Amino acid sequence: MSSLEFKNISKIFPGVKALDNISFKANGGEIIAMLGENGAGKSTLLKILNGDYQADGGQYLLNGEEKHFKSPLEAIEAGISIIYQERQYIPYLSVAENVFMEQIPVGKFKMINFKELNAKTQEIIDEFQLPFKATDRMNELSVAHQQMVEVMKAYRRKPKVIAFDEPTASLSDAEIDTLFEIIKKLKEQGIIILYVSHRMKEIFRITDQVVVIKDGKFVAQMRTKDTTEQELVKLMVGRDLGNIFDNLSRNTQIGDVVMEVKHLKNPWVHDVSFQLHRGEILGFAGLVGAGRTETMRAIFGVDGWSEGEIILDGRSVHFRHPKQAIRAGIDMAMEDRKDEGIFAIRSIMDNINVSSMEKVSRGQWLQPDKERKAAKRGIEEFEIKTPDEDKKIGELSGGNQQKVILARCLAAEPKVLILDEPTKGIDVGAKAEIYQMACDLAKKQIGVIVISSELPEILGLSDRILVMHNGKITGE
Ligand SMILES: Nc1ncnc2c1ncn2[C@@H]1O[C@H](COP(=O)(O)OP(=O)(O)OP(=O)(O)O)[C@@H](O)[C@H]1O
Ligand SMILES: [Mg+2]
Repeated sequence: MSSLEFKNISKIFPGVKALDNISFKANGGEIIAMLGENGAGKSTLLKILNGDYQADGGQYLLNGEEKHFKSPLEAIEAGISIIYQERQYIPYLSVAENVFMEQIPVGKFKMINFKELNAKTQEIIDEFQLPFKATDRMNELSVAHQQMVEVMKAYRRKPKVIAFDEPTASLSDAEIDTLFEIIKKLKEQGIIILYVSHRMKEIFRITDQVVVIKDGKFVAQMRTKDTTEQELVKLMVGRDLGNIFDNLSRNTQIGDVVMEVKHLKNPWVHDVSFQLHRGEILGFAGLVGAGRTETMRAIFGVDGWSEGEIILDGRSVHFRHPKQAIRAGIDMAMEDRKDEGIFAIRSIMDNINVSSMEKVSRGQWLQPDKERKAAKRGIEEFEIKTPDEDKKIGELSGGNQQKVILARCLAAEPKVLILDEPTKGIDVGAKAEIYQMACDLAKKQIGVIVISSELPEILGLSDRILVMHNGKITGE
């Protein structure tokens, strides 16, 4: 049986000890959850395992043998694969070509043997019982299926270890079921599975063991069936959270209508009407693909619309670009942080101020001290884990990047704030903080729209809930 052992692994980044003497062991045929707050060091440990980063101390043993991978390619060759939430594929190539990327079977005269390529790929597709074909083009698949292809890519290399880093963040419930079926198959074949997720439900559903990490340090390892959600939360956060929603301090003074949307239509939105009040938290429930994000993108000026009307603060508005929306007082925190939300190579400070440049400038001139002050305020208020405001946002842990985005929205002082899946990739402790932040914004009489696929979140947070289906509002 394969085994993987971390021994005293440490990793230091400028200003942070990301990992501090981490040791634990994982065996084949088991799914091991790695649990910890945002910035605890989970992704860093995986990146050391797959040769992306080099440890500053300690070692790891694969089947008792000490390993040091200098690059992900070396790690892959030794049987270690990581599946990230962001998919890494070539869109215009077929599924088969993606699966066999670095190992395309070549025939006589160095011609690609497509027949063999497709047949081998189709075998795996059938084994996993997936509903697409080896010859389908990657960019024609759904996000979930693209991710399955990533798993197939790892699987065909006959891996010893597959690590999943928040794999379900963009998947619907049905898609999660499919992914879990596949993960179980991998487990049955004796593969060691490391599984990182902030969703407790998933931890209890598929993992056999849990390893808790806090501030880069090992806290505990136990059998999943021997622990409870409450105990795990306490171990990772260091305190008892109780019922998050009961403890929120809410806005009780909901004001008049701040925004009204009337019969909004575009190719994805089929006649949507609703009102949002000052100081109200309005939840949008529905399945992935129900048209919630599409409606908000139209309002925010990302996508166009041809019919209907939007009235903001008594004025009819039609934004052709998010910049116009932000200037008029609407801001939106996008669901897809990586694609639309952040400027990864710019500093936290730049990212916090980007929507509110006029507040930190005089005339055309940026005022650096104001900029710095606004950034420091955001870092403090949102408890963003960073040594300083000059760190590149791309170097923050996922959850801390999300907090920077919220800090940015707040700095712009909007009248209407749209939060699309605001707690995606956020740990339980920080989730509670973000819910309280949403309530605090409402207290400032901002109208807050929350889109979420987590029902408890919508139910616990909203003053009123609209349900969407097929581009229409189907219930209130
Ligand atoms: N490339 C890097 N350069 C500098 N600091 C980094 C880098 N990568 C990670 N860090 C820091 O190391 C710490 C651990 O980050 P890591 O991404 O491993 O956390 P995580 O447990 O995966 O959190 P999350 O749940 O938010 O994804 C954080 O303080 C982070 O800012
Ligand atoms: Mg991470």
